[in-house]
Amino acid sequence: MKIAILVGTRPEIIKMAPVIRECRKRKLDYFIIHSKQHYSEKLDGIFFSELALPSPKYNLNIGSGGHANQTGRILIELEPILMSEHPDVLLVQGDTNTVVAGALAAHKLHIKVGHIEAGLRSFDQTMPEESNRIITDHISDYLFAVTDLQVGHLKHEGLPDSKIFQVGNTIVDALLSHRAHAEKSSRILTELKLQKSGYYLLTSHRAANVDDPDALKEIIQLIAKIPGKVCWPIHYRTQKVLKENKIDLPMNLAWTEPVGYSDFLNLLSNCTAVITDSGGVQEEACILGVPCVTIRDRTERPETVDVGANVLVHRNAEAMVAALNRPIKPWTNPFGDGHTAERILDIVMGEHFRLAPQTQD
Ligand code: UD1
Ligand code: UDP
Repeated sequence: MKIAILVGTRPEIIKMAPVIRECRKRKLDYFIIHSKQHYSEKLDGIFFSELALPSPKYNLNIGSGGHANQTGRILIELEPILMSEHPDVLLVQGDTNTVVAGALAAHKLHIKVGHIEAGLRSFDQTMPEESNRIITDHISDYLFAVTDLQVGHLKHEGLPDSKIFQVGNTIVDALLSHRAHAEKSSRILTELKLQKSGYYLLTSHRAANVDDPDALKEIIQLIAKIPGKVCWPIHYRTQKVLKENKIDLPMNLAWTEPVGYSDFLNLLSNCTAVITDSGGVQEEACILGVPCVTIRDRTERPETVDVGANVLVHRNAEAMVAALNRPIKPWTNPFGDGHTAERILDIVMGEHFRLAPQTQD
């Protein structure tokens, strides 16, 4: 059996890493394709080296561009590779343009698609990620849902039980396997002159929050209201709008370029609370027991809100300050036990061997 693994952006590399490592451990026949939707060292290469991942066999060099441009060029570049390699399955993870393009290219060639993190829904159709998720789920053969909630969404949309597998989230595997190393190796607190529990962490790159300079200015005003020092590793999408519009940063901010996984985990584990619009960071905060405030009005990770780990505040300063001051009760991580990658490969391999004798008869 041959497995193709597609990645394209920072969170895909991090969340696919446990699957890649498990393929390597089992000595499976697999190869990695990288769309290069993310290509800057700090959104891309740094994660391959830190997570000790093998180099991709194919780089599609797609880079930045509009939605149609990115999605279309991935389709065009990927098709001949899938035709010549003929994998039995293509694994994709998440909700980016890389994911939807990869799933569509494989589906049209009758190559099975495994969607890791299937069934997430924000019910906000203005998010580009929401259409990517829905389309990908509806053309996938293996829907690797995280919790019961995603299983319910998929069933509600008429997807058959036989395709749905509740397996948890590979982010738990990634976190558990990297956390100790991150703690030992990262010097980020010293470098940024931060004290444990003496700062808030911020990340923001959602199109709805940063593409419009007025929305981004609201985020900047939020930062000024945060009661303490704020550390912000700024995504390049956000940096671009800040620079183009000459937006000044508030005094309580220690900003930095995007950081690697060890540094980010260290920043997250040691902050007072995190303020974010990232999907993955909402999950990681919840898993690490760090209070989270999300600058959005909807989330496709409502489990984090349900357990009390996360509060949605949109770009409302008053709501954000109240959320930062809320009493915190300990919660249980809803995203799995760190064995999700093993389950995914058990299912993909098991299905393959179960089907093999039938096709030979
Ligand atoms: C993409 C995903 C988003 C995911 C995020 C993870 C889509 C529609 N969006 O958003 O779901 O949460 O990745 O971080 O697929 N840039 C660089 N260097 C890079 C990549 C991007 O400088 O390596 C800059 C460019 O100015 C680019 C902008 O960031 O135009 C946006 O990049 P893009 O890949 O389009 O979207 P993200 O915001 O990164
Ligand atoms: N992350 C990182 N460095 C940073 C910011 C985030 O390593 O400077 C990691 C973080 O730990 C999480 C992932 O990137 O695993 C989240 O990616 P992002 O917020 O870009 O995308 P999303 O999850 O919103 O799709």
